[in-house]
Amino acid sequence: MTFYVTTPIYYANSLPHLGHLYTMIVCDVIARHKRQQGIETFFLTGTDEHGINIERAAQRNNRTPQEQADYVVNYFKKMTAAFGLDTAHGGYDFFMRTTEPFHYEGVSELWRRAARATTPKGREALYKGHYEGWFCAACAAYKTEDEYSESANADEPPTCLIHETKLDRVSEESYFFRLADYDQALLKLYEERPEFVQPEARRNEVRKFVEGGLQDLSVSRLRTSVSWGVPVPDDPAHTMYVWFDALINYITAIGFGNQQQEKAVGFEKFWPALHLVGKDILRFHAVYWPAFLLAAGLEQPRGIIAHGMWVDPTGRKMSKTLGNTIELDVLNRHFPTDAIRYFCLREMVFGQDGRFGYENLIDRTNSDLASGLGNLSSRTLTMIQRYCDGRIPSGDISEEGRLPAKRAGIDSDEATISSFIEHARDEFIRYLDEFAFSKALEEAWSIVAHVDKMISDAKPWDLAKDATQEQTLNAVLYRAAESLRWLSVLLYPVMPNAAREIYAQLGLNDDLSKIDPAALKWGDLESIQIGEVKALFPRIDKAKTMSEIKEGTSEGEGSGQHATEADAVSEARASARASDAAAHATQAEAAPDAATLVSYIEITDFAKVDLRVGEVRTAERIPKADKLLLLSVDIGEEKPRQILAGIAEYYEPEQLVGRKIVVVANLKPRKMRGHESQGMLLAASIGEEGKPVIATFTEDVPNGARLK
Ligand code: MSP
Repeated sequence: MTFYVTTPIYYANSLPHLGHLYTMIVCDVIARHKRQQGIETFFLTGTDEHGINIERAAQRNNRTPQEQADYVVNYFKKMTAAFGLDTAHGGYDFFMRTTEPFHYEGVSELWRRAARATTPKGREALYKGHYEGWFCAACAAYKTEDEYSESANADEPPTCLIHETKLDRVSEESYFFRLADYDQALLKLYEERPEFVQPEARRNEVRKFVEGGLQDLSVSRLRTSVSWGVPVPDDPAHTMYVWFDALINYITAIGFGNQQQEKAVGFEKFWPALHLVGKDILRFHAVYWPAFLLAAGLEQPRGIIAHGMWVDPTGRKMSKTLGNTIELDVLNRHFPTDAIRYFCLREMVFGQDGRFGYENLIDRTNSDLASGLGNLSSRTLTMIQRYCDGRIPSGDISEEGRLPAKRAGIDSDEATISSFIEHARDEFIRYLDEFAFSKALEEAWSIVAHVDKMISDAKPWDLAKDATQEQTLNAVLYRAAESLRWLSVLLYPVMPNAAREIYAQLGLNDDLSKIDPAALKWGDLESIQIGEVKALFPRIDKAKTMSEIKEGTSEGEGSGQHATEADAVSEARASARASDAAAHATQAEAAPDAATLVSYIEITDFAKVDLRVGEVRTAERIPKADKLLLLSVDIGEEKPRQILAGIAEYYEPEQLVGRKIVVVANLKPRKMRGHESQGMLLAASIGEEGKPVIATFTEDVPNGARLK
């Protein structure tokens, strides 16, 4: 049996941050878990090195595109090593680069196959046509009307709603992939394999998108417009669309269409893969990629699992555009790798967005790791050192020992604790298999709490003073030590260093990467001499570390390296909320400083936002715009304001008329769907899908009153 897991390949235009590290950590945990189960596993990560975005970043940095890619890859490799994610530390098996010649071979082979293929509706899958439309270099995607906002000035190009950057006009000959013909085949795939896209909410989203009808996809650009990419076979005047080239990395890396990787890895052996991706790139993986594979006659992936985004304490997606990223070198300097891994998995409910703050990371490390696991390990081992001469004692309680044990609250047989731990272990594995990492960790920590309580109730320090309680004392310490052995095996995929450390301190030296937690048997720990007892997770001094981070960052630590990357802006997709007033305010301050780390603003910043009470006079739907309502709102001015609000899926126009709302009155007017919006209404954003709930007043307020 084999298993193949992938991260997305990261754009080589700018340096990675915590958002990028996260998918790697998740894949690393999955790979280690599979390896423990004895499954031959291949874990792939790498960089996406082609396209206009890299070309532009290179230009800005006075480098060739290849130099730009090499620079980012160097940093990536340095960071993956620092975080124990590289091959040398038992992490990824191969670092893929799309500029590798073998990748060109495989991509060309797939293109040729698609060029020979007919669609499910009997037409040619690839055809030459003319593309006319708008393209966002940062998204590397063509944009439809509802994905950009028109500029107020008719001569200026529209702006990407995600990046707030100007779009490129494309009007040229292009090859098209006939995606429109694959809708039924894709819907059948989602229907027949409900596990194909996870979590379920994301699958529904993808299904709805496909049900809404698909448009053919432009898959090449003229070499004269984009030269940095794979040439189209037999037509080198065209360069392949970067997403076409990038997605195919998942199969070229293991040998599709090239001998070199086939020999080293093996396509037949490892395909299909499990793809882990951020929810922002789900469409590319769950719609385009399966369609390309259908055209090439290849098997579909094992599954596509979408995770949420890391957001800052104010709820905005961490991205270079907003200058709110958590830099890897800062994290690496101030925190143990295992604490970061633990935090990422414990704090982010997988699939949902997670909030990152250094203070949370410190609190979790101190409570769960220093006081929790670390303390349990050191108190258990120190007592074994002290009361048992450093030898794991026997856990057996004889006939005569039963009564005293019972008095100390200890069962004479170990059934209670062993069945508790076996159950927690089974749940832990089940949750890990379902990617419910935070729940899995809760299970593991239920063991920590259980054993802690057993120790506190039995009070070994008192038992040690009573010779008749020797067996009870030994049984308590044995059970604690045996639980620690189980915890090391369970936690190895999440915290490889700490797990190895506990294991070694217990006096054990097997390779944890090869011990299947399902095969653990209670009582297998033998009476061996323990190792040297050391603190696992020293407590972090919060005030001191916070001020070091702030000082370091404002002096340019971490961010300094990024500041040289003038291309930062074109990095990851910022949340669509980038368009709100708060985002504008932060964007002005490019590199993160101490203030943006905790996201404080000055009162003068807040005063820039003119918030007014408004009353909705009229509300109507806009033809062909499912999400927008056109409102006229009285904010105490001569004429009501015209405001467009993306709430049509949740509010009926009639519900709104007469309602008092809060309006951002000094937001720059912008055009959407041919209508100018002269402000923005405020609403809470609820749940995963961001359901809006309009802010309102429960007391009488005059129109135009200012909110301060
Ligand atoms: N190059 C494409 C992927 C091609 S895969 C065939 C790309 N690159 S990216 O560098 O922009 O993003 C890579 C991954 O990082 C994505 O899965 C994205 O979701 C993830 N993240 C970027 N910022 C993130 C957060 N703030 N939080 C969590 N993940 C984030 O897209």
